[in-house]
Amino acid sequence: MKTERITVKDRLHPQDEELKKAAELLRNGGLVAFPTETVYGLGANALDEEAAKRIYAAKGRPSDNPLIAHIADEAGLEPLVAQVPEAGRKLMKAFWPGPLTMIFPKSSLVPHGTTGGLDTVAVRMPSDPVANRLIALAGVPVAAPSANTSGRPSPTTADHVWEDMNGRIEMIVDGGPVGIGVESTIVDVTGPVPMLLRPGAITMEMLRDLLGEVEIDPAIAGPMSPDAHPKAPGMKYRHYAPKADMTLVEGEPEAMAAEICRLAEESLRQGRKVGIICTEETRHRYPEELTAAARVRSMGMRSKEETIAHNLYAVLREFDEEETDCIFCEAFPTAELGQAIMNRLTKAAGHKIIKV
Ligand code: TXA
Ligand code: MG
Repeated sequence: MKTERITVKDRLHPQDEELKKAAELLRNGGLVAFPTETVYGLGANALDEEAAKRIYAAKGRPSDNPLIAHIADEAGLEPLVAQVPEAGRKLMKAFWPGPLTMIFPKSSLVPHGTTGGLDTVAVRMPSDPVANRLIALAGVPVAAPSANTSGRPSPTTADHVWEDMNGRIEMIVDGGPVGIGVESTIVDVTGPVPMLLRPGAITMEMLRDLLGEVEIDPAIAGPMSPDAHPKAPGMKYRHYAPKADMTLVEGEPEAMAAEICRLAEESLRQGRKVGIICTEETRHRYPEELTAAARVRSMGMRSKEETIAHNLYAVLREFDEEETDCIFCEAFPTAELGQAIMNRLTKAAGHKIIKV
């Protein structure tokens, strides 16, 4: 299949003319990747089971892993859900459109092919102008997982999507790099107490400020045992993973950097290709002899964690391109956006964490 690529000239003000063909493809069962404020999504008509099947095939994704239905406005929600619990209403009002996905009991309109067989449906209303307008023009809810091959880091640019999806989908809409860089926060509002299933830019602190009590799916915290059942089925896969063997090092900045230097030198002596992930604030702790032999990359500024989230997946992909054998990465505090950052890094490292 030939994948068409179109570029939106002004991503804040997309023209209907630019998105018309993409919308038509979506309506007619095609696969179209598009930017959202979190990561690029791989879209298909959420009400069309055959289209959902094509998403799973293009990504190489297990079909028990449900998809998020994306809507353009609040009116798009009612047909998809059996009921909107009170917590859901509050969250919608506070954070939609935006990087928040909610789990609702599904209506009969939503096929089980979209929900991985579940009787619940994940719904999100993106704020990105290209995503929002495209969904509105399509006139159908759009199922969209991250537009990466299953198991690879999520795409934050159209080039990342191209690497994974060229030849597998009808179209890529290039709207430039995304803003946030990690996937949406997922909250299950079907139970008596709302539960965080995946941390994101809408932080636990923000959720608790609004709702009071919020639980955390235990699957977020620790390594998953093979028979565990996280509430968001996607959380059980070794997701977000670079090809290299990755280790996270946690501790005070000085001790953390010293341990990373030691580990990196050891691996270099074994003839391995070594990558180090640091930050602007800690970069100076890696001596020149080491940075000459290993690839040291800063993910952004600790004092501005949005920059870390923004660059996280791109840095992992760069190490893939360079065929790095092992990556040593600094850890982050888990408050606010740090919770999402550490969740993705921990998974990328397959839960390999050294505490110093
Ligand atoms: O930011 C995002 O959410 C991006 C952009 C494209 O919108 N999409 C995204 O989709 O991250 P995906 O498919 O990569 O991740 C969806 C996650 C998976 O972990 C899946 O298991 C969970 O949402 N999920 C979907 N439907 C669910 C449901 N009914 N109950 C529990 N978890 C669900
Ligand atoms: Mg994904």
